[in-house]
Amino acid sequence: MAEVTMRVWRGDDGGGAFSDYVLPAVEGEVVLDVIHRIQAGPAPDLACRWNCKAGKCGSCSADMDSLPADDPVVVAPLRTFPLIRDLVTDVSFNYEMARRVPPLAPRAPEPDGTYRMMQIDIERGQEFRKCIECFMCQNVCHVIRDHEENKARFAGPRLFIRVMELESHPLDTDDRRQMLRQQMGVGMCNITKCCTEVCPEHIRITDNAIIPLKERVIDASYDPFTWLGRRIRRRNGPRAAAPAAANAGPAPGAGTPPAAPSPDGGGVRTPAASGRDDPDGAGSARDIDTSPATRADDPAG
Ligand code: SF4
Ligand code: SF4
Ligand code: FES
Repeated sequence: MAEVTMRVWRGDDGGGAFSDYVLPAVEGEVVLDVIHRIQAGPAPDLACRWNCKAGKCGSCSADMDSLPADDPVVVAPLRTFPLIRDLVTDVSFNYEMARRVPPLAPRAPEPDGTYRMMQIDIERGQEFRKCIECFMCQNVCHVIRDHEENKARFAGPRLFIRVMELESHPLDTDDRRQMLRQQMGVGMCNITKCCTEVCPEHIRITDNAIIPLKERVIDASYDPFTWLGRRIRRRNGPRAAAPAAANAGPAPGAGTPPAAPSPDGGGVRTPAASGRDDPDGAGSARDIDTSPATRADDPAG
């Protein structure tokens, strides 16, 4: 009878090694089936995480340097996250990062209290909703896999998928460009596409999420006309304010008084923007273009 050799990593954060288990090969089994047979037989203390065995919950993800058809089949824990034991890692980094992403901010409903959306707009974000949170993309992303120090400022491809899911929603009004740049580090991705290659849901992470998000951040932060406008606003802000204060009245032609100045003194934040941090003083993305209609027209989205 044909046999299969499973080379499984055993150990904890104190150290470990690969152990070989030789079992009868059973046609139609997936790797998780064989891991379960190891648990039921030679290694009942082997730790692995799983829930559905249907490719839907993402719990059982592991690092495999070989194809399941190879012999031996090498199975190791995810490398990007701290090891708990055997094949189980602590993936809470991903949930901590998810906390940074504000929820959907829907626009006001129509006068009759309903929302109306075009089917084509609903379908735009469908690809991103397929994510099963297996974190395989996080595991292969060298920005955090090989550089633990980057975890504080780089959210990783799974979280970029989440942001793009929100950005693609036809009712969304939020602007997450500052957050993407300053708190999620989208600029650190150098488009190697490793994340896209391993995604079991075949989400085109790089092409359909990361690159469009990068373009939006660049529009907000590095577009020369935007930069010039921000400089002019910064320069004019204090000068315009001085005579107004001296005359104890609004400047000529000032129109509606500003709602609230941003911390960098450049421009006025919308109420929704005023609660957002701006730690590098680079100005708010909302200073530039807050129109949901404009963003909905963005062909990159
Ligand atoms: S494309 Fe970007 S996010 Fe994806 S693996 Fe490469 S560096 Fe990481
Ligand atoms: S984007 Fe794909 S690889 Fe990343 S967590 Fe979701 S399903 Fe897994
Ligand atoms: S147990 Fe593997 S995806 Fe659910």
